[in-house]
Amino acid sequence: MNLSGAMRARLDGVSDVWRGDHPWASFYDFMVEHERVGRALWKAGGGTDIGLLYEAADEIAHLAPGASVLDVPCGGGVALRGLQPGQDVRFVAADISPAMLERTAANAARRGLDQVECVEADVEHLPFADDAFDLAVSFTGLHCFPRPEAAIAELARVLKPGGVLTGSALMNDTGVQYAPMRVLGRAGGLLGPSGTRAELTHWLATAGFADAQIRTSGALAYFRGSLTPTDSSVHE
Ligand SMILES: C[S@@+](CC[C@H](N)C(=O)[O-])C[C@H]1O[C@@H](n2cnc3c(N)ncnc32)[C@H](O)[C@@H]1O
Repeated sequence: MNLSGAMRARLDGVSDVWRGDHPWASFYDFMVEHERVGRALWKAGGGTDIGLLYEAADEIAHLAPGASVLDVPCGGGVALRGLQPGQDVRFVAADISPAMLERTAANAARRGLDQVECVEADVEHLPFADDAFDLAVSFTGLHCFPRPEAAIAELARVLKPGGVLTGSALMNDTGVQYAPMRVLGRAGGLLGPSGTRAELTHWLATAGFADAQIRTSGALAYFRGSLTPTDSSVHE
């Protein structure tokens, strides 16, 4: 993308806007938590099926006992709908926004999910060891980050070899009809640069997700891939 200095600064500052709990954050969270409202607004605004988000979160319900999951950015905790009360998994919900983390904590309490740990973190500098998680979920997040490729690389670092990354993002090449949404989102300081689906494929492959699949739904792309074990991890 060819950017003016002012626009580059705005895109670089996108996480600071989210950290400050912009009014859009609570509206967004209301939308994804209220399925009927969310379905209608996502279809009307982004031509997209919000059901795919809920389905992707369901992967959490099928994890083996003892598995560990990282949800970043967790927002208000939409991915919690995949987690069952008493399910034997470590579930870490991370976000740069303290207000979003409070929403996730309240959501977890409402759902009786006492295995949820909330951690304030920047996706580019996650406070977790290498190889810590079996599954990372990152829904509607990459387009809110200043450097989506750096976020994917950091998610790969904290995943175990063979670990899975699944998520979704608003992409730049999913249709001109979504251009106003992207322009307004960036002007409002809520969207980062994102990229095209080819760029997303490249970022995922570079980070080690060689088998990543991308599915488009309106303005959004859903992606899922597993971290190819490196030679050293295979032979250890
Ligand atoms: C559109 S919301 C999506 C949240 C949630 N995954 C969902 O689908 O409802 C984007 C989230 O990204 C978070 N965020 C923005 N920049 C971040 C960063 N650098 N590190 C971690 N979280 C960030 C925001 O605070 C916000 O909660």
